[in-house]
Amino acid sequence: MSRYHRHPLSYPANLKLKVMDLEKSLKFYTEILGLTIIEEGEEYKLSADLINPLVIITRPNNAIIKPPHTTGLYHYAIKLPSRLDLGKFINHVKDKDIEIVGGANHGVSEAFYIEDYEGNGIEIYADTDEKNWFVNGKLKMVTDPLDYRELMSLAQGDIWDGMPKEAVLGHMHLYVDNLEKNAIFYELLGFEKTLALPNSAYFYSQGGYHHHIGFNVWNGREIPPPPENAIGLDYYTIKVSTKEKLMDLEKKLIENNYLTQKNDEKILTKDPAGNKIILEI
Ligand SMILES: [Fe+2]
Repeated sequence: MSRYHRHPLSYPANLKLKVMDLEKSLKFYTEILGLTIIEEGEEYKLSADLINPLVIITRPNNAIIKPPHTTGLYHYAIKLPSRLDLGKFINHVKDKDIEIVGGANHGVSEAFYIEDYEGNGIEIYADTDEKNWFVNGKLKMVTDPLDYRELMSLAQGDIWDGMPKEAVLGHMHLYVDNLEKNAIFYELLGFEKTLALPNSAYFYSQGGYHHHIGFNVWNGREIPPPPENAIGLDYYTIKVSTKEKLMDLEKKLIENNYLTQKNDEKILTKDPAGNKIILEI
């Protein structure tokens, strides 16, 4: 597994989505994303490695469409282990007639973007060689064209056989209300700023990754969170390496007047934009 998505770092590990049409969503997440249902009931847990959930979906009562100009999910990003896997995935989504809504060579990664049937943004990407991510301590993240032809021909003849087991939730990218307020919060959680696009988007990571979390104000400034029964992101989980670290974070969150609700060994909090986060070991 990627060394940027394991302890001792803290990193996003899974997310829960609220959906309008459970059946259709399950079809998307199993047939298009190639995840496997590992638990079902009120919520469905879908996994790449058959052990850890990557995406959890549920249908809330009285589900409504997410109002525009609210905070929440911009996209979540699944990191594949290799370029070959990325090429295979592109061939697969094209076979399934899924629209690719964007693609880019970000320097640090090669990525393409799709949406699930309810409009949740999904980035599928593979990292480039980490030696080239930072130049003189500055993150070189760009938006150049993605070489679809090369990636697709790399994987030509390879049969897609579902989400690779090593795939992880590489990063979360959120809509927020205010960059500075959210910067303070994510710094308190122990993330460091790797890139700032002033008045636009900030990127944060731990341990020298290009980014575990991105947030932007592209959906508007000082916008409210969506109502509880709106479809879209319910929460995402950040894994913390030890109980001591988790307790320390809880203490810091309380001292700084952020929401904390403890349930078993999990702590629910919210960033200042109202995006829910579960902190757990
Ligand atoms: Fe992204």
